[in-house]
Amino acid sequence: MKPKVLITRKILPEALEYLKKHTQYDIGGEKRNLTKKELLEKIKDKEGILTLLVDQIDREVMDQAPSLKIIANCAVGYNNIDIGYAKQKGIMVTNTPGILTETTADLTMALIMAVSRKIVPADAFTRRKNFKGWEIDLFLGKEVTGKRLGIIGMGRIGKAVALRAQGFRMDTVYSDPRILTPEEENKYKAAYLPLDELLSTSDIVTIHTVLNSETHHLVSKHKLSLMKKDAILVNVSRGPVVEERALAEALEKKQIWGAGLDVYEREPEIEEKLYSLDNAVLLPHIGSATYETRLKMSMMAAKNLVQGLQGETPDNLVTQ
Ligand code: GLV
Repeated sequence: MKPKVLITRKILPEALEYLKKHTQYDIGGEKRNLTKKELLEKIKDKEGILTLLVDQIDREVMDQAPSLKIIANCAVGYNNIDIGYAKQKGIMVTNTPGILTETTADLTMALIMAVSRKIVPADAFTRRKNFKGWEIDLFLGKEVTGKRLGIIGMGRIGKAVALRAQGFRMDTVYSDPRILTPEEENKYKAAYLPLDELLSTSDIVTIHTVLNSETHHLVSKHKLSLMKKDAILVNVSRGPVVEERALAEALEKKQIWGAGLDVYEREPEIEEKLYSLDNAVLLPHIGSATYETRLKMSMMAAKNLVQGLQGETPDNLVTQ
């Protein structure tokens, strides 16, 4: 008998095909996320679950499923899962690292460029048929080339951003609990700075850290107040790393120049004020959203799930 698994929401068809061969699966919402009540009901008899970052897998959910062996998260971040409790219960948890690094770094550059060059309001202006001819001061943005880029969180994605920044001859600095080796600093052309100094001297600050109790509100109201008046903040990591209300206020009062956000504190809710600010570019959490990457993520999560169910150690186990 194939093991029973729950896939909380549709993943790409190739991965479903693969899972059909190895499991009996039940899919949660087609076009929406499962409610907590539905999740609790559906997980009862399952040995495995394939989750997305929107699914909160807490104690209650794990306690509801006595046969649960593995939670395969289809995301690199796994702050949506109570890892400590999973470990305690001997439930394996896996993620999808590495494969979304380049895609997310690409989107970071897109946000940096979009905010700096006012791409979104300029596009809206053109579509409203307001373009009446070249003007010397139409949509004056900010130069990116040669500016100081401050990377908060110098892991895989932070490093991939640093490599891209070399093409823009940027002066890259980073802040991370782990200082890179001199060889790495040389490869990424990045110098370590303590967070406050990074914030107060960077023209563009970009966040690539994990979300945990230490990074929650790492970029707080106070930290935002250290940033330069003409600086840009980009966040493609996790929303709660930034104090969103304070950021909206800082943008409104022009305490900083602009922001590019792909993630929010209470997704899918967004701080109301942000909607009306044209110095912010707001994306709907699409950091890894290319067909190629989402396919790789779906397949990686599916394979991790099957490995765990077949008694193997999954490739991307985070509960060691
Ligand atoms: C996306 O946000 C991920 O963590 O994979």
